[in-house]
Amino acid sequence: MSATVSVNGRISSAREAVISVFDHGFLYGEGIYETMRTYNGRPFLYDLHVRRLRNSARMIVLELPFTDEALAGQIRDTMAAADLQGVEAYIRVLVTRGVGELTYDPAATPRPSVIIIVKPQVDPPAEAYDNGVGVVIVDVVRNHPDTVNPMIKSNNLLNSALAAQEAIRRGGFEGIMRNYRGELSECTTSNLFVVKDGAALTPPLTAGLLPGITREFLFDIGRDVGIQVREEVLRDADLFGADEAFLTSTTREALPIVTVDGRAIGNGRPGPVTKKLLEGFRKRAWGA
Ligand SMILES: Cc1ncc(COP(=O)(O)O)c(C=O)c1O
Repeated sequence: MSATVSVNGRISSAREAVISVFDHGFLYGEGIYETMRTYNGRPFLYDLHVRRLRNSARMIVLELPFTDEALAGQIRDTMAAADLQGVEAYIRVLVTRGVGELTYDPAATPRPSVIIIVKPQVDPPAEAYDNGVGVVIVDVVRNHPDTVNPMIKSNNLLNSALAAQEAIRRGGFEGIMRNYRGELSECTTSNLFVVKDGAALTPPLTAGLLPGITREFLFDIGRDVGIQVREEVLRDADLFGADEAFLTSTTREALPIVTVDGRAIGNGRPGPVTKKLLEGFRKRAWGA
């Protein structure tokens, strides 16, 4: 694995990066994270990512031991050590409850652990954008917001991992999860959009999902390119009856979905609205 890692400011190769087995991130999955990537060497939408990281921290009552600027500096240092030679970076920032006794009492862990992983960003292949991908609707239901709220970008990822494993078993590029009411919520590592009559629709936050940064940015892009982007409660029938569908995430931008459970969406090809939004997104991301 080619990665460079900062563990509480100590930067090393992936092989040498270590963390205590008494870290509550490992013991209890108590931690939060962000995934960012660079365009032209700079972390994209950094302020939005840090805002979400702070919100996740607040929701698990974890005090972040850095300012936004200090974190940016640590990311820069890790990127410099990674020496990516012009290749864009994938950046994962994790903050856990820290190292302490075997107890849920937060008093046992006075110092959060801060980990930054930097490695080359690997884009989906061009064919995935040209031809679209096939996804499945999985049986694993998205966490109820009164359990581990999907609003928290949490290291406690068993819900997503089990859903993703089901998708992989069934040959899906991604797995779409329903919420406890049976409405569509999001995919295991991305947000979901459907296109109907020229508008791009995505489930509202009240459907119980991670407020994706790419999802949020797409509302802006819609205004740029003259496509209405709005929230709407979506069910299976809305997806199967859609003209187009796509998923969004930091590392995959806006990726066309052409089949769901083996059934074609629209004409089974990436559609014009998805393409226009993707183009608009890339223009802004690359600063053109
Ligand atoms: C569950 C889930 N939903 C949505 C997303 C997309 O979020 P973003 O656009 O901020 O990458 C992710 C990203 O990893 C995710 O894990």
